[in-house]
Amino acid sequence: MLLITGASGNLGKSTIDFLLKHLQPEQVGAMVRNPDKAGALTSRNVPLRQADYEDYPSLQKVFEGVEKLLFISTSVTGEERTRQHSNVVKAAHEAGIRHIYYTSIVNPSADATFGATPGHFETEKAIKETGITYTFFRNNLYLDLLPDIAGNAVESGSLYFAGGEQRAGFVLREDIAEAIAKVILRKEQESQVYTISAPQTYSFYDVAVALSKAANKPVKYIPISTDYMRKSMKDAQVPAPVIDISTNMADALQKGEFDYPDNTLRSILQREPVDVETFLKQFYNM
Ligand SMILES: NC(=O)c1ccc[n+]([C@@H]2O[C@H](COP(=O)([O-])OP(=O)(O)OC[C@H]3O[C@@H](n4cnc5c(N)ncnc54)[C@H](OP(=O)(O)O)[C@@H]3O)[C@@H](O)[C@H]2O)c1
Repeated sequence: MLLITGASGNLGKSTIDFLLKHLQPEQVGAMVRNPDKAGALTSRNVPLRQADYEDYPSLQKVFEGVEKLLFISTSVTGEERTRQHSNVVKAAHEAGIRHIYYTSIVNPSADATFGATPGHFETEKAIKETGITYTFFRNNLYLDLLPDIAGNAVESGSLYFAGGEQRAGFVLREDIAEAIAKVILRKEQESQVYTISAPQTYSFYDVAVALSKAANKPVKYIPISTDYMRKSMKDAQVPAPVIDISTNMADALQKGEFDYPDNTLRSILQREPVDVETFLKQFYNM
């Protein structure tokens, strides 16, 4: 049996939807922290297993009899993330799971600026150390984040962001889900690492051009400093954790940590991944 963690989240739900086009519901298990959030999984008869990354015995219980695990990284950061990921890897090893699919990040390294990246590096290392075969999906930034980053840029005509001159290979979460499902269905036995990025990277100047086309209104990118971005968000009473994550992402962008064009996603999907222009056009014309 294949168990999918984070099954109540966007990526988990979407991956299960793609898998169910080829597998029977009973071949797929959905690990959820809160069954009330399982939504359509329940009506689609996908067996639910309840556990929390924080609760080691709950992981031991749900990993019993699992052959393959799609481990979707947690939504928290810092020490909590380290503890939770280490629980999952240890419990998977103890349960004798044969293969771990893990959602990582582009170019994982121990000293990256982006807050989540060193944790992904450590988790990949921990998985390798178990001796379990693995598939790492090293995902670039979600394209789905762009409307939040753009804020009121379309209305005001100005896209203020601390992305500097650097570029990112934005990928649509649905495309990542489809790629994960396709790779799982290949049933590869060996360890593999896939960089899941766009064939072409975009600067925020390019994003502003795409926004202009999508909304049929001029939008200009105005690069600002991270300090200025932090202050503006604070003045707008944005919650502190959101400010921290957003400014950290901007700092990492300025260092080029997401500038990884790659053709692997295109090759897995056997079509062009959804690009920035197409996504924004759909988003602003809904
Ligand atoms: N590449 C990017 O740009 C990017 C952006 C954002 C996030 N991410 C990463 O990608 C992951 C998947 O993305 P997503 O959009 O699907 O995120 P999401 O919608 O927030 O889903 C996260 C999933 O993780 C589960 N989870 C969180 N803490 C847990 C815990 N302690 N025990 C068990 N399950 C727990 C959540 O369960 P609940 O429903 O119970 O909360 C949810 O199902 C995120 O968790 C994050 O690590 C990547």
